[in-house]
Amino acid sequence: MLPLLLLLATAPGARGLSDIDYVPTLTNRTLGGRTTASTFVLEQPRCVFGDAQRGAQIWLVVALAAAADRFDAGAAPGTPQLAFQTFPSNTAYATLGTALANYPCPPRPGDITVLRVGSETACRDDPERPSCNGPLPGPGPYRVKFVAWNQSGPQAETQWSEPITLKIAQQADNLPVMAGGRSTGMIVLTSLLSILFAILLACLVALLATWSSDSCGSGVIFSKPDTVTVKRYNTHHVYDQPAARL
Ligand SMILES: *[C@@H]1O[C@H](CO)[C@@H](O)[C@H](O)[C@H]1NC(C)=O
Repeated sequence: MLPLLLLLATAPGARGLSDIDYVPTLTNRTLGGRTTASTFVLEQPRCVFGDAQRGAQIWLVVALAAAADRFDAGAAPGTPQLAFQTFPSNTAYATLGTALANYPCPPRPGDITVLRVGSETACRDDPERPSCNGPLPGPGPYRVKFVAWNQSGPQAETQWSEPITLKIAQQADNLPVMAGGRSTGMIVLTSLLSILFAILLACLVALLATWSSDSCGSGVIFSKPDTVTVKRYNTHHVYDQPAARL
C-alpha cells in the first residue's frame, strides 16, 4: 500500500503532467497599467519549475476563463489548436515559449521579472506566427497557466490564475495599429491650423488696435478691395447708363 501511495504522489498525473503548486499572478509592481484593454502584466514564473523541466520550454497558456477546464495540454504549442490567430474560437492559445534558462532562479539583480501579455501587434493576423503574443481580443475574463513542454510532450503545468478581466475600451482596442500615423497627422494639422489662426488673430488685433497704421500690411490689403469695388461699381454704372437711355 505504501509504495502505491508514494507512486501516486510522485508520478505525473493521469495526463502525464506534473502539477506544480503555483498560481500565476498579475504583477504587484506599479507599472503603467497592470491591465489595459488588450494587455496584462504577469509575474514571470521564477523558481517555479525545477530541474526535471530543465530541457523543456516554458509556455504561457491563455484561455477563456469559462473554457479553461477544457484546455488539453496534449495539443502542442505552435499548432492551430493553440494558435493566437484562432483565438478565441479555439478557447486557448500558447505564447511566450522560452527555455527555462531564461527564467533564472533567483532573479539576477536588475532583471525584469514581468511578462506583458498581448504586446505584439505585428503578428496578430500572421498564420506563420501561431505563438504570437498578440493583443487580447476583448475584456475576457481569461485564465492563464504556465506549461513546460519538451519534445516528448507536456511535462508540467502550474495551476490556473484567477480570472483576469481587462478594461473595456473598444476603440483603444482597435487603435494600436493605426494610432501612430493617425495621431501624428492630427498633431501636425492641429499645429498648422493653430499657427495660421494665431497669425490671423494677431493681424486682426493689430488692425483693430491701430486702424490707421499699416501694421501687418493690413492697411494695404484693406484699401485694395475697397478701391476695386468702387471701380467696378463705377464701370458697371457707366456701361449701364447708355443701355438705360436706349
Ligand atoms: C522530456 O522530459 C521528460 C521529463 O523530464 C524526460 O523524461 C524526457 O526524456 C524528455 N524528452 C525529451 C525529448 O527531451
